[in-house]
Amino acid sequence: MCGIVGYIGDREASSICFSGLRRLEYRGYDSAGIAVVTGKGLTTRKVVGNLNNMETSLDEAPLPGPLGIGHTRWATHGKPSIENSHPHLSQNNKIAVVHNGILDNYQELRKSLTAEGYAFRSQTDTEVVAHLVEKYYKGDLRAAVCEAVRQLHGAFAIGCICADSPDEMIAVRRFSPLVVGIGDGENYIASDMGAIRAETDRVYVIDDDEICKITRDGVEITDLDCNPVEREPYVIPWPADAAQKGGYKKFMHKEIHEQPDAMRACMAGRLNSVDDPIHFENIGLTVDEIKGFEKVIFTACGTAMHAGLVGRFLMDKLARIPTEGDLAAELQVRDPVIPKNTLCVVVSQSGETADTLEALRAMKRKGAKVVSVINVVDSSIARESDGVAYIQAGPEISVASTKAYSMQVLTIELLCLYFAEVRGSCPPDEIRKLKAALLKLPKQAEEVLTREPDVIEVAKKYYEKPNALYLARGVNLPSAMEGALKLKEISYIHAEAYSAGEMKHGPIALVEPNMFVTAIACEGPTYDEMVGNIMEIKARSGPVIAVSYDGDEKIPQTGVDPGGDPTDITSQPNDMIWVPRTEELTSPLIIAIPLQLLAYHIADLRGEDIDQPRNLAKTVTVK
Ligand code: F6R
Repeated sequence: MCGIVGYIGDREASSICFSGLRRLEYRGYDSAGIAVVTGKGLTTRKVVGNLNNMETSLDEAPLPGPLGIGHTRWATHGKPSIENSHPHLSQNNKIAVVHNGILDNYQELRKSLTAEGYAFRSQTDTEVVAHLVEKYYKGDLRAAVCEAVRQLHGAFAIGCICADSPDEMIAVRRFSPLVVGIGDGENYIASDMGAIRAETDRVYVIDDDEICKITRDGVEITDLDCNPVEREPYVIPWPADAAQKGGYKKFMHKEIHEQPDAMRACMAGRLNSVDDPIHFENIGLTVDEIKGFEKVIFTACGTAMHAGLVGRFLMDKLARIPTEGDLAAELQVRDPVIPKNTLCVVVSQSGETADTLEALRAMKRKGAKVVSVINVVDSSIARESDGVAYIQAGPEISVASTKAYSMQVLTIELLCLYFAEVRGSCPPDEIRKLKAALLKLPKQAEEVLTREPDVIEVAKKYYEKPNALYLARGVNLPSAMEGALKLKEISYIHAEAYSAGEMKHGPIALVEPNMFVTAIACEGPTYDEMVGNIMEIKARSGPVIAVSYDGDEKIPQTGVDPGGDPTDITSQPNDMIWVPRTEELTSPLIIAIPLQLLAYHIADLRGEDIDQPRNLAKTVTVK
């Protein structure tokens, strides 16, 4: 969603802000703006739509100046327009403000500022901040911003510059992420480390209700009462080019291919060998707590919830704890009974998803312990949890999540095995088998990726179909849900996932030659039932793509009528996506990859904008 970048130094602030905004494009936006302060005052430039419009505008008329702030806006209060895009200016046009988050009390503030004579130019909540800063500015910008934010209720990360204070930039946060990048004779602010990683690898991660005065030569962090805050710089662990496409056409494609290495990073230090117990650091749980849990709830949104649903299955099975899984938005509505000794596992790539954060808070109020499974270090959900298991996926830029999903599943697998070992709830041989399967995974994932050309052939056959159904049972039902979500969000093909057991209770009515069915049919406890479902689909002229283990001789011919019309689908073998054999409980990790590739190549053949699908934002910070 919205993104912030700011710069102070000797270089041209507008071009640094612009490059930073480019790196935040993946979050989703519909307008953008930059403000710079020069010796002559404050100048802004705003565009609606793509950042290419900003690039053209800056090429035609550069915005010189060594101090600037930039913003990409994803509309919430007021439509995408020049007036509503940030930076917003104070009435005297001397103060510029960029803001991420939502102000709950902006209407009251707007009313009272209007009564005091301030004229509003936009429909946004942010504009009140610019006017408030003007109201309180008496020559000390930090004091004015401090006073302004005291009036605000809600979530914000704010960057502010002033024509009368050309040697400083002020930044402050509450509930929305903010970092200050540390340079040499220059400094930065950003809502996301990725925006400034090309400039520096050292940042201060700012906490709620901390305000920063940033000059060329230093950063002063204080609380809102001006008490100094000591903060060690955080060194960003990924290289500057991690957020580049590295030769791939799309970030999504690159991120799918990063999965074998991400798996190694995710397991490192946690699972070393089949004989070593699993280690988990910083998850904030004592052995007694783990032994004493009587209920677990997984909660998340979207793809992260699909990982949570795998977790629901595994936690029950391995740790023998009654486990539920609820979408974060629904968990708040359902208001479940939370007995003593309940653990809530919150799953989120960004760690900023508004519904997930709300669900976490609701569970904490009810007395649950919260462990989160997170990618973005120090994100809001990570901070508010009792413990965090980082998934170690590295930056994920593509809006459609791929490697983060797989690493969420992998981290949850490890967590469940860890619980099983601590609780002694699973036979040691079973645990050893699963550990061995996990250790083999990175190599198997590499093998799956070498088979991409086969997936492309399948994609070529089906990319023009209007509808798709994904079927599976048991631990792979979430894999089917994730496969369908990937397809619909980037190709816009209508795709549904069902438990194959539900087929006969409704969805079978949809089966016809124009709807392709992807069936997850790997040998295991639900294999025979899946064979039956494939026969039922073929008998109704439904084309089948089956995901099966290498060497399966049955599935390619399942439901095929050898004596029928060879041009008819019922007489043709099923299209196969082969994956290396693994254990049932580790199979979601290997099955995810070809389903991601299938969605990717179908969308690519349809010519869609894969990394920035319509209407979607990478980080959904509004409810
Ligand atoms: C889909 C996708 C989304 C996210 C969801 C939650 O590809 O990425 O469904 O999974 O918006 O986001 P996080 O994981 O950041 O909480």
